[in-house]
Amino acid sequence: MDKTILCIGAGYVGAPTMAVLADNCPEYRVIVVDINEQRIAAWNSDKLPIYEPGLDEVVKRNRNKNLFFSTDVQGGIKKAGIIFVSVNTPTKTSGRGAGKAANLQYWEQTARDIIEHSENDKIVIEKSTLPVRTAEAMHRILSANDKGLNFDIISNPEFMAEGTAVDDLQSPDRVLIGAMEDESGQRALRRIVAIYQHWIADNKIKTTNVWSSELSKLVANAMLAQRVSSINSISALCEKTDANILDVSDAIGMDSRIGAKFIKAGIGFGGSCFKKDILNLVYLCEYYGLPEVAAYWEQVVKINDYQGRRFVDNIVNRMFNNIAGKKIAVFGFAFKADTGDTRESPAITICKLLLEENAQLAIHDPQALHNAKLDLADSSGEISYCENPAEAATDAHAIVILTEWQQFKDYDYRQFYRAMKKPAFIFDGRNILDHQALYELGYNVFPLGQKARNHLDCHSY
Ligand code: UDX
Ligand code: ADP
Repeated sequence: MDKTILCIGAGYVGAPTMAVLADNCPEYRVIVVDINEQRIAAWNSDKLPIYEPGLDEVVKRNRNKNLFFSTDVQGGIKKAGIIFVSVNTPTKTSGRGAGKAANLQYWEQTARDIIEHSENDKIVIEKSTLPVRTAEAMHRILSANDKGLNFDIISNPEFMAEGTAVDDLQSPDRVLIGAMEDESGQRALRRIVAIYQHWIADNKIKTTNVWSSELSKLVANAMLAQRVSSINSISALCEKTDANILDVSDAIGMDSRIGAKFIKAGIGFGGSCFKKDILNLVYLCEYYGLPEVAAYWEQVVKINDYQGRRFVDNIVNRMFNNIAGKKIAVFGFAFKADTGDTRESPAITICKLLLEENAQLAIHDPQALHNAKLDLADSSGEISYCENPAEAATDAHAIVILTEWQQFKDYDYRQFYRAMKKPAFIFDGRNILDHQALYELGYNVFPLGQKARNHLDCHSY
């Protein structure tokens, strides 16, 4: 039992984390369970349910040796002494805190499942992002068991990013483990630290109390998102002043106090964590009577929304204030490159805004077309989904880049240009293309936060 680890929730966080853990800790038996049968079937198949570079090898190397995927939540709880909980914690859509607070129903259900099926003491670890002091509530629920069992709650937030999950899990900047300060909590902490010591150096394992650990996860994401919103806000100013956002990013990033990461301007941040975590932080600040702090962080989300709207406004303005009936090739729908994930992708809002203007969309993405279809299922308007970029570009009036996929740089834009309607436009929402070369091919090119390269005699920046 001491060497059996269970993870409840086989999503983007739980499954990769456990695969890397199993890979590094051969003497542990790692079971990943989920109520979603399809997902578990996919984890047990040749085609894993998520696209993540390097993940296939790690899963296939360990699967059915010391890594198991199953729908038997009950059986897993009985067998394991250590339970990671990695179920979803979406933002509440109704009730108190709607639109901001986390919906803890899946988490609480898991806690109740754990009580019901446990036959001995357990360590329960929060992996999902949770509002600070959730552990306390969970500890109360778990302690209310009438079986006389002891449950230790540990907070061990995950900092991996999609697209680089396997590397991030294998070589993280730090592993954060928060525990209760009593003797039992500290004993549990030592056991979890010992697991990570299999592959992480001691100086990268940071231990704290539970509250600091929970809050650190929210703050790390909020501060990363804040950097993105900061640079995006400046991209708007660059477009008005002929300053170039790439030079500004470079210039400030060379300051070692600022650093070069997370200052790439784009169409706004997406992903399942940033917005949810900031709103969570905002809600907590409001709850604890700190309206100024709440408003400060909420502005990060407002700028993010503004950036997407601003991008669409620019498209409409540049295309003679009318995109109705015009085909627009959308390159990229994932919230970032190297993932098929589209949760909170800025592409969703941007495509919906374009559809509201009655544009016809031809969406192309190397990994995210399936999710794109689900995200736009309720949107009315003409949408086609194209595996082939040339098909999307043919007869299009504009190409709009929404995700920074590496392969987009190597496409044959000369061929696309020939097949497009004229004047042909490119709106590069990620600044990944060679704008001068495109301009020379005949395109009217509108990067983000940089001077437009425009053959047309319309208003320039
Ligand atoms: C994030 C955190 O990085 C990670 O630590 C946490 O565990 C989960 O949330 P993730 O959402 O997977 O990870 O991706 P990330 O690389 O952080 O990118 C988030 C969004 O910000 C993407 O939409 C990305 O395109 C955008 N971004 C990032 C920018 O627009 N500019 C940048 O410079 C960096
Ligand atoms: P994340 O990105 O945080 O990993 P996901 O939505 O990808 O989030 O994964 C969360 C997983 O948790 C889903 O596959 C969902 O089916 C699973 N889940 C939710 N509630 C339960 C539960 N009570 N028992 C087992 N699995 C659950």
